[in-house]
Amino acid sequence: MAASSHSSVPLMKLELPPKPIQEMIKTIGNQIPKRYIYQPSDKAPDTSAIGYMDSPIIDLNLLSSSSLHQHEEELRKLQSTLSSWGCFQLTNHGLTSSLLNQIQKVDKDFFALPQEVKQKYSRTLQWVEGYGNDTVTEDQSYSWSDRLVLKVYPIDQRNFKLWPEELPNFRETLDEYTKEVRRVLEMILKAISKSLNLEEDRFFRECEAEQNIYMLARFNYYPPCSSSDHVFGLKPHSDASAVTILLQDKEVEGLQVQKDNQWFKVPIVPDTLFINIGDQLEIMSNGLLKSAVHKVVIDKERERTSVAIACFPHTEKEIGPLSDLINKERPQLYQKVKNYVKTYLQYSPTAERAINAMKI
Ligand code: OGA
Ligand code: NI
Repeated sequence: MAASSHSSVPLMKLELPPKPIQEMIKTIGNQIPKRYIYQPSDKAPDTSAIGYMDSPIIDLNLLSSSSLHQHEEELRKLQSTLSSWGCFQLTNHGLTSSLLNQIQKVDKDFFALPQEVKQKYSRTLQWVEGYGNDTVTEDQSYSWSDRLVLKVYPIDQRNFKLWPEELPNFRETLDEYTKEVRRVLEMILKAISKSLNLEEDRFFRECEAEQNIYMLARFNYYPPCSSSDHVFGLKPHSDASAVTILLQDKEVEGLQVQKDNQWFKVPIVPDTLFINIGDQLEIMSNGLLKSAVHKVVIDKERERTSVAIACFPHTEKEIGPLSDLINKERPQLYQKVKNYVKTYLQYSPTAERAINAMKI
């Protein structure tokens, strides 16, 4: 049965931070406003020494290699990394260093624009696209970050009035970058399908039905904070996507992932992409894949940027555990759902993870 209504979810009043963080920090000195200090329910950032995620880097060349031995070896690596972490770093993905530098530069250039210019692209409370931040309920803290969110696929749904015209290379760069990310996504979804002994294009077909894969670009900006232990760049969350493909800052760390209730730093490895499973692939895989819980901590001195491309099946498509992955030993663990993003947005402000509402 489809989880079409979520009557158990209290409808909470959502709000946006009154000002971009970049503006706010100009006036506060060393005094952090209360709304930015994390709440106990968010779980305190770990201040103790944290280790690095030490999983092997996955090589896309080898994954698609015609040598059976190399291919199978890499597939095994992918499978074991995914089952312990729900995420991995990818190399030899075919995106040039120059393109990776360009998309990072576009991110930094946007946030360096004057405030009046950025303001023209502001989001509203109703929809995530545009310049601003995520919504929260009145008892929750704001994150120490600003972002620009743009729908990039399907192409005919691009909302060009939100694409900053002041940056001459913006369109071309984002267009080229997302085309490449889409290519990588297809290869990754095929490999993940194979790693679960499914037909190669099983997950891709689920996401791509009638050319309708849905992709959102999130340009993230995290200014420094001298009391970084008291704020979150992004608090612990899993993504609403099927898969997210992230380009980290080249110099400033901040991303951490959770495994067995412990946090680990994601190391910066030049020219790799960080790929994580989102809630929708956890649902489709009937729980064989786990959506990675991650967060962003703030640097005391340096700003950090990142570009995340979140990839979803089209909102009109009902998703659910694949029949091939349901059997006597492994009964269906999640409900079917249409427009999971909507459910997620109702839940993400709460301490509870949205995916728990999908469990049978
Ligand atoms: C996100 C996210 C991580 C980062 O945008 O959902 O988790 O490093 N970003 O910015
Ligand atoms: Ni995320």
